[in-house]
Amino acid sequence: MVRSVPATPKILVLNGPNLNMLGVREPTIYGKDTLADVEALCRKTAKGLGVAVDFRQSNHEGELVTWIQEARGKMAGIVINAGAYTHTSVAILDALSLSELPVIEVHLSNVYKREPFRHKSYISPVARAVLCGFGAHGYALALEGLAKMVKA
Ligand code: DQA
Repeated sequence: MVRSVPATPKILVLNGPNLNMLGVREPTIYGKDTLADVEALCRKTAKGLGVAVDFRQSNHEGELVTWIQEARGKMAGIVINAGAYTHTSVAILDALSLSELPVIEVHLSNVYKREPFRHKSYISPVARAVLCGFGAHGYALALEGLAKMVKA
């Protein structure tokens, strides 16, 4: 009997503007880990969870929107740190809605301890869960939670 091997669920991990500068960017707020360190953590975590990750960063809103659109029907879910676009982007909100995928919103810093303009998120209304203030570890927690959701 031929048994089909179940496909490994793939999670899109998206990073928005200025997150390419992690490590040098305001380390007292965002920590010392670089984006490459965060990616390595995500890959290691995903391996342990039996999921795959597609890890990306862009400083361009439209590019993030395109990647979210392309995830529809292909990915199992999205972990997103949209950076400053979190607080401004209806376009990213709309793309996440049309993706019809489970979304976990992540922030390295505790945005609620910071300026009032960071307290508003356009993404939270479509997110299944929101994590902030755990630093890079928040990505691992987000992947863990999302893997549980997509395998349920
Ligand atoms: C951030 C918080 C945002 O307010 C900020 O614009 C970022 C990073 C975080 O990870 O803490 O770029 O999303």
